[in-house]
Amino acid sequence: MLSKINPTHTNSWKALDEQFANNDFDLRSLFEYNPNRFNEFSIKRNNFLFDYSKNLMDSKTKNLLLNLAEECELKEAISKMFSGDKINETEGRAVLHTALRDFSDKEILVDGENIKPQIKRVLDHMKSFSESIISGTHKGFSGKEITDVVNIGIGGSDLGPVMVVSALKHFKTRLNVHFVSNVDGNHMAETVKNLNPETTLFIIASKTFTTQETMTNAHSARDWFLKAGTQEDVAKHFVALSTNVQAVKDFGIAEENIFEFWDWVGGRYSLWSAIGLSIVLSVGYENFEQLLRGAYDTDKHFQTADFSENIPVLMGLIGIWYRNFYAATTHAILPYSQYLDRFPAYFQQGDMESNGKCVDRNGEFVDYETGPIIWGEPGTNGQHAFYQLIHQGTELIPADFIAYAKSPNKVSDHQDKLLANFFAQTEALAFGKTEEEVEAELKASGKSDEEIEFLLNYKVFHGNTPTNSFLFNELTPFSLGQLIALYEHKIFVQGVIWNIFSFDQFGVELGKVLANKILPELESSETVTSHDTSTNGLINYYKANK
Ligand code: F6P
Repeated sequence: MLSKINPTHTNSWKALDEQFANNDFDLRSLFEYNPNRFNEFSIKRNNFLFDYSKNLMDSKTKNLLLNLAEECELKEAISKMFSGDKINETEGRAVLHTALRDFSDKEILVDGENIKPQIKRVLDHMKSFSESIISGTHKGFSGKEITDVVNIGIGGSDLGPVMVVSALKHFKTRLNVHFVSNVDGNHMAETVKNLNPETTLFIIASKTFTTQETMTNAHSARDWFLKAGTQEDVAKHFVALSTNVQAVKDFGIAEENIFEFWDWVGGRYSLWSAIGLSIVLSVGYENFEQLLRGAYDTDKHFQTADFSENIPVLMGLIGIWYRNFYAATTHAILPYSQYLDRFPAYFQQGDMESNGKCVDRNGEFVDYETGPIIWGEPGTNGQHAFYQLIHQGTELIPADFIAYAKSPNKVSDHQDKLLANFFAQTEALAFGKTEEEVEAELKASGKSDEEIEFLLNYKVFHGNTPTNSFLFNELTPFSLGQLIALYEHKIFVQGVIWNIFSFDQFGVELGKVLANKILPELESSETVTSHDTSTNGLINYYKANK
């Protein structure tokens, strides 16, 4: 069990309150007075650089944040997670996605049983199955090779694979992997429209195998398939990834086509498990293993590096500084890589479903802020969409910038232009443009004093917007695994300090229950009166017009 410490009652929190009240951190001055700031506030690992120097903090702030981590017993929490303690107390489960990528010889016990052999068994199954599909030895019902794979899942059973498959497009096998998640039938219809049932493999990915969207899509996929194949042929074209083996069998999928995982893998942390089968089919098993190895590399760093040099710990603490002291409500993730187009969406779920909680580990309502809103889009696209508000709006929006030094596709000077934008943005966000600078610029461009007076305030950039920069040497399965695990552990760090349970998600239940109650009302011909007048009005309008 994790300790149950209210962070605001710690000495370090009080000291941080004072630190915030007594300082007005200004990035221009912080860099001016400390020429060594970049060296002090950046970490180089083998294949990437983490620069956190453009943050509104000095070394005293950093030390106070590190003390907060100690006081909230983060070290103990980390070792409890990795060793399989049932830290997901509200569901009575261990949290062991890290075991799925643990390449050491050590045993990991859940209820007294070493889980390593079962992990290995499923990985071996994924390997042999994917090899048979990729090589074409596994044939569809009419004797043709599989060309297309459709992963049907939602939330954690979709977003992780979607994100990784997109990120590792460059490593693609001959298979085309598609994803259907939305219960909106158009998602399914548009996906299967150009597919051939003879050459399509469906993966039904659902931890519980009860999720309405996934089960509805699974049934529709089977109906679509059965227009061409027979019930017997289903075995060659449908596999399932689930913890609920019985429900999968009841659906009609044979035992040998089930890739199991376990209740100690949280849905939004499950891409490392059987849920990663679509990734394996998309990039091959060797690359999937590299992804796992990258995450394992971060796991070791997280467990062993001193907190002052521990990247996920620092990411988490910096986030707390802005969320709880600067009252920042959002945090942007801005990858300067089109390959990472789904990375912000993936961690939107990862972070918001984990730390969007208002009850602490003592069962009390918190009286401090917890998880921020996570959002973002790849650069440079975002620059032409929402950066205006980050530069000149009224919100403080801390942001993470992620980029790669090398690009696998050499397309004239695109890469330098991309990176020039990355560097320019973090610089502009940090240092802005002062009145004096704007005035000099306008003068030089020949503007009159009157024009300058009119334009001046509009052209000033307040700066002092904090950013973290992650600059990787290149985007490989290994480095992607490292990066994902950094964010996973950041979420863990924050959840521990906020004294909340990060691994349940009761907040998504209410909507599901209500939707099931409304569904029969949509199917009946009666006018609906059982809700508030707004909901009744909307439902009845829909029924009249559907
Ligand atoms: O949205 C809630 C949730 O439970 C997520 O945590 C999970 O990733 C998703 O639904 C899908 O659940 P399942 O894999 O059981 O279908």
